[in-house]
This record gives sequence, C-alpha cells and structure tokens, in this order.
Amino acid sequence: MTSKKPYYVSIIQCFFDYSTVKVLVIRSMLVGTLYRLLQAVVIVYIIGYVCVWNKGYQDTDTVISLVTTKVKGIALTNTSDLGLRIWDVADYVIPPQEENSFFVLTNLNITPNQTQSRCAENPGPGSTCSSDQDCKRGLHDSRQNGVQTGRCVHFSESEKTCEVLAWCPLEKKGDPPDPPLLSEAENFTVLIKNSICYPKFSFNKRNILPHVNSSYLSQCVFDRVTDPDCPIFRLRDIAAEAGEDFQTMAVHGGVMGVQIRWDCNLDLDESRCVPAYTFHRLSIKDPENNVTQGFNIRFAKYYKNEVGKETRTLIKGYGIRFEITVFGKAGKFNIVPTLLNIGAGLGLLGLVNVVCDWIVLTMSKCNKKCQKYNAMKYEYVSFLFTYTYSYLYIFTFF
Ligand SMILES: *[C@@H]1O[C@H](CO)[C@@H](O)[C@H](O)[C@H]1NC(C)=O
Ligand SMILES: *[C@@H]1O[C@H](CO)[C@@H](O)[C@H](O)[C@H]1NC(C)=O
Ligand SMILES: *[C@@H]1O[C@H](CO)[C@@H](O)[C@H](O)[C@H]1NC(C)=O
Ligand SMILES: *[C@@H]1O[C@H](CO)[C@@H](O)[C@H](O)[C@H]1NC(C)=O
Ligand SMILES: *[C@@H]1O[C@H](CO)[C@@H](O)[C@H](O)[C@H]1NC(C)=O
Repeated sequence: MTSKKPYYVSIIQCFFDYSTVKVLVIRSMLVGTLYRLLQAVVIVYIIGYVCVWNKGYQDTDTVISLVTTKVKGIALTNTSDLGLRIWDVADYVIPPQEENSFFVLTNLNITPNQTQSRCAENPGPGSTCSSDQDCKRGLHDSRQNGVQTGRCVHFSESEKTCEVLAWCPLEKKGDPPDPPLLSEAENFTVLIKNSICYPKFSFNKRNILPHVNSSYLSQCVFDRVTDPDCPIFRLRDIAAEAGEDFQTMAVHGGVMGVQIRWDCNLDLDESRCVPAYTFHRLSIKDPENNVTQGFNIRFAKYYKNEVGKETRTLIKGYGIRFEITVFGKAGKFNIVPTLLNIGAGLGLLGLVNVVCDWIVLTMSKCNKKCQKYNAMKYEYVSFLFTYTYSYLYIFTFF
C-alpha cells in the first residue's frame, strides 16, 4: 500500500513521526540485584570518591612560592692549623644566599700556606718514578695536581715521584676528621621564610602565620608537638626527623630535603591553610658501598705573605646542603568542574545498563529458560522492510 503513495508523502509522514523507546522489564532476582548493586557502586563512587574525597566540585591551582633562609649560630674550634677560632654565619654558610637551598659547613681539611711553586706529586699511577726518564716535562693529567717539570724527586724517605709545578704543598689525601670539626653545627638554627601564592584565586600567604609575633619568633624552635607554627628549625632536629644522626652525617656531608606542603581548601576558613613540614635525606646512603658518599666543596682564601708572594689557604669543606621544596594544591568551588564531574558520573550510570544487557544476553545463550528475554529484546524485521525505511530515513535527514 505504501508503494502506491508518492514518495514525498512518505517523507512528510516520516518527518512528523515521533519515535519512543519500548522498555523491556525483566523480572529476574539475579539481574535485578546485580543492576541495583552496580548502581549503588557507581553512586558511592560518584559521591564518595569524586565529590568528597577528590573534591570534584572544586577548581584547583598549584602553588607558586618564594623561599629565603637565614642561618644562626656560632661554633668554636681549637686545631693545630688554625688555633682557637670562632666560626660565624659568614664563615660556614657558602654561598651566603642561594635559591631554595643553603649549605652549612660541618667539617674541613685545611691546607695552609700554598704558593705557586714546585713539589713532589702525590704517589699514584703515572707519578711514581725511579729516575728523571720516567717523568715527562709539560705533561698534565686531570687526575694530577700540576704540570710535570721532568724531574724525579723524593716524596718521602722511601718513595720518589715526579716533580710538579702546582699550588704547593699539595693537599694531603685522607679521611676528614671524625668527630667533625664543626660538631656544634647541630645546634645551629635556620629561619625559613616562605611566601606562597595561588594566582588563580588571588590568594597569598606566608609561613609566618598571623598570630606569630616578634617576641615569640625570637625564642621559638620548631617542634612538631609544642611549636608546630615556628618557622625556625634546629639542624639536628631536621636530621633526626629524617632518621639520621647529625654528627655521623656531618663527617662526610650530605644532602637533606625540607618539604613544605601547602594543601588548602579555600572553601573553608583561610586560617586552616597552614604549611606542613617534612624532612628527608636526599643523598642516598648505601651501606654496602660507601665509595664517594657525602658532599664536599673546595674553596680557597687568598692573601699575600710577608715577601709579597701570592699565598692561599685551601679548604676542602664537607657539609650538609638543605634543599627546600614547596608544593601544594588549592581548591575552591566552581560550577564548571562540578557539572563536568556530574556528567561523567551519569555516563557511568549508563554503563550499568550495558553490563546488565550483556549479562542477560549471555544468560539467554546458555539457558533455555532465559531465551525468551533475547527474543523479546531483539525484534528482527525483514531486510526489505528495513531497507525501505532506512532509505526514507536517510532522505529525511537531508
Ligand atoms: C687549644 O688547644 C691547645 C692545645 O692543642 C691548648 O693548649 C689550649 O688550651 C686550647 N684552648 C682552649 C681554649 O681550649
Ligand atoms: C705558614 O707560613 C707562615 C709564614 O710564612 C709561617 O709562620 C707558618 O708557620 C706557616 N704555617 C704552616 C702551617 O706551615
Ligand atoms: C647542643 O646543645 C645542647 C643543649 O643546648 C647541648 O647539650 C649539646 O652539647 C650541644 N651540642 C654540641 C655539639 O655542642
Ligand atoms: C606574642 O605571642 C605570645 C604567644 O603566641 C604571647 O604569649 C605574647 O603575649 C605575645 N606578645 C605580644 C607582645 O603580643
Ligand atoms: C667504608 O666501609 C669500610 C668497611 O666496609 C670502612 O672500613 C670505611 O671506614 C668506610 N668508609 C667510610 C667513609 O665510611
């Protein structure tokens, strides 16, 4: 009958068709329970994980920060090389100011009175000799201390080595003093000043909190229990919290990490946005292999001696470098992420239907009783019929 009508009539008819979905209700304890269970899991996930735990209703921003440090303390040493000597902050913090880190000298090997002159190279491969023929004038090797002069001279009573042009006397090889020279460094304190900003929310704060006054700041020391807001840290406490013994670490030096975490929920009161401090050792210690462990630097102090010759004091300094890392995330309610997360959650709810449909289909394949579900869910129509209809559908689309 339809074929008798002109085809534009069918198109118009098709255009004004309203199609609606036919719902098949399956009364099955198993599938019904599973359906509700999966829905419950998805809803718990959306409310519990996405909204409450992950705060999916908030827009987030990461921290921008500035750190400056100020170390305080004095140490007294009495050695044969230097005599009685006071060490203050200008002596042991090298360089005076760095970005997000500071280095505190804890131990040193001193080679005084070095001048540009000739002396015997330290014994080793390429420097031990028995006669001048073994030494080559002008030879320089990156592992040696100077340029060979071509002479073979006595290094000690029994050993002969090639003579070099270098800063003489050469630095003595050997382990650093133990206990460390500046063992008093454990009682030094450092004031860490940290300002942060969350640019997206125009939020600024510093780790010297509003209730901290100058009289408190002049005498407090950070303590996790009694003074958690004090930004002044004793170096020994930093090492102890990282599970290290300061005096042991001070002998060969090392690197410590100070982490400041600013996680803020800006929907709550601003006073709850406070820094959390944690401490770790960054230089990994390997008890199996202690080769080249620790941290050291070399520097020299230059002066002119009585006869006007340039002279220097070479210092191999061992110390602890503190690296300060600031990180954090702030969140504040925003409608856009809220809608996005709700949309994603509703999408997951749709997945529950797909899973249940698949289960029904699988069940009806193996179970005779359930085959009727399959028959009712999928109605098969003849090819020709669908063909004409899809044809019309395509027409109406254009
Ligand atoms: C420094 O050491 C020397 C010996 O090494 C000693 O005679 C002197 O009393 C010491 N000075 C102080 C203040 O300890
Ligand atoms: C360094 O040189 C000065 C003078 O040149 C001398 O008095 C002093 O003893 C020397 N020190 C050492 C450790 O050799
Ligand atoms: C550090 O200070 C404590 C107490 O103030 C003191 O007992 C300790 O001896 C000091 N450490 C050093 C190495 O002087
Ligand atoms: C500083 O703060 C402390 C405690 O935080 C308080 O006891 C003291 O009275 C305050 N001093 C001044 C001058 O406000
Ligand atoms: C390294 O370990 C050896 C023994 O395993 C020890 O004799 C030596 O003193 C250690 N060196 C350092 C720098 O700890």
